[in-house]
Amino acid sequence: MEFDVKDLSLAEEGLKRIEWAEMDMPVLKQIRQRFSREKPLEGKKISACLHVTTETANLVRTLKEGGAEVYLTASNPLSTQDDVAAALVKYFDIPVFAIRGEDRETYYKHLKAVIEKEPDIVIDDGADLISTLHKEYPALAEKVIGGMEETTTGVIRLRAMAQQGVLKFPVIAVNDAYTKHMFDNRYGTGQSTIDGILRATNRLIAGSYFVVAGYGWCGKGVAQRARGMGAIVIVTEVDPIKALEARMDGFLVMPMSEAAKLGDFFVTVTGNIHVIRKEHFEVMKDGAIVANSGHFNVEIDIPSLEEMAVEKREIRKNVTEYKLKDGRRIYLLAEGRLVNLAAAEGHPASVMDMSFSNQALSAEYIVKNGNRLEKKVYRVPREIDEEVARLKLNALNIKIDKLTEEQKRYLSSWEMGT
Ligand SMILES: NC(=O)c1ccc[n+]([C@@H]2O[C@H](COP(=O)([O-])OP(=O)(O)OC[C@H]3O[C@@H](n4cnc5c(N)ncnc54)[C@H](O)[C@@H]3O)[C@@H](O)[C@H]2O)c1
Repeated sequence: MEFDVKDLSLAEEGLKRIEWAEMDMPVLKQIRQRFSREKPLEGKKISACLHVTTETANLVRTLKEGGAEVYLTASNPLSTQDDVAAALVKYFDIPVFAIRGEDRETYYKHLKAVIEKEPDIVIDDGADLISTLHKEYPALAEKVIGGMEETTTGVIRLRAMAQQGVLKFPVIAVNDAYTKHMFDNRYGTGQSTIDGILRATNRLIAGSYFVVAGYGWCGKGVAQRARGMGAIVIVTEVDPIKALEARMDGFLVMPMSEAAKLGDFFVTVTGNIHVIRKEHFEVMKDGAIVANSGHFNVEIDIPSLEEMAVEKREIRKNVTEYKLKDGRRIYLLAEGRLVNLAAAEGHPASVMDMSFSNQALSAEYIVKNGNRLEKKVYRVPREIDEEVARLKLNALNIKIDKLTEEQKRYLSSWEMGT
């Protein structure tokens, strides 16, 4: 078997960690059991470009159980877990091409290795695989039945390709699934952001003023969890509807210029630039803690903070102290990068379980329906989203009601009034 991983002797450690993640991925497990019986992916080749982690290992195992021949490469050279790569090769016979810290040249060599397997289905995270396939292997791209994309950035690139008419096969934007957002953005980011702040600072959250900038999917999660730990949560927003929602959910709502004076903790989750900037640092309390959990490190205007500071030092791991002219100190966590990834461990496996279950069911959907789909980016079909939710409820041993025949008729008729 052809593969390229760092060290096969790491495999045993990797296997233990894959099994630990599996315990927290009950939805994928149920799909794997059905795939194992029904083999819906029989005879199909799947090339996947994903972060090589314990959760991904459980996805590729599932695809293989479904009958597919699976090849895995990394979607980011820095996120590869070498023990997991080794375990996939040694214990699951899955060819992996990924080494943590590999240079750009090796990264693309690995990407090409999985493309050259002539896949029927591709799975991407950031669209590097799909764009390389289109640019350098146009004949192989023609043969692909369809693909899936995991993240927002990738979906944006693929929509641009579809708009220009260059996309050669249909792609399902797994990123857009409701069950993905609900878990990843709301519950995952909510919990892991607080986890990152706690690991970095070990400060007590109860009784503090905790400012959350942005009340979208992620902001709602962070605000809920901070309140759960006893904080007085302040939300800042630019969208009047979201701001109203935050107020009706029981949070204080005010502009950042006001919140800046009160906050003990600040978290930005807006996807926007310079949400906390000079005018806000100028009025913050001594000891204010500032963190970001949005995708890019631009939400906090760090260059301004650097300019304002007379002294700067790393006071703890992932905590930079900025001393201002008047003696006030502001603490920036993880250099303004995603605090949940930089200072904690990112999302728990049960969060990735939802996203990867959408991936596995979308692969099955592509095999069944790929030939009649157009060459564009599709949302995850509603029935897949619902199936993922149903399997999760099943794992939690929760039963729900079913519409009666009378209710179905009532909901689809217009004649019946008061
Ligand atoms: N940390 C993680 O693991 C993780 C996970 C998922 C998403 N994200 C990132 O988090 C960010 C937010 O994602 P989301 O799904 O919540 O997006 P979203 O669009 O649902 O919410 C963003 C909110 O921020 C508000 N906003 C924009 N500019 C603002 C400003 N200047 N002040 C206050 N509010 C402002 C918007 O009105 C919106 O309500 C994105 O960058 C996303 O990529 C991070």
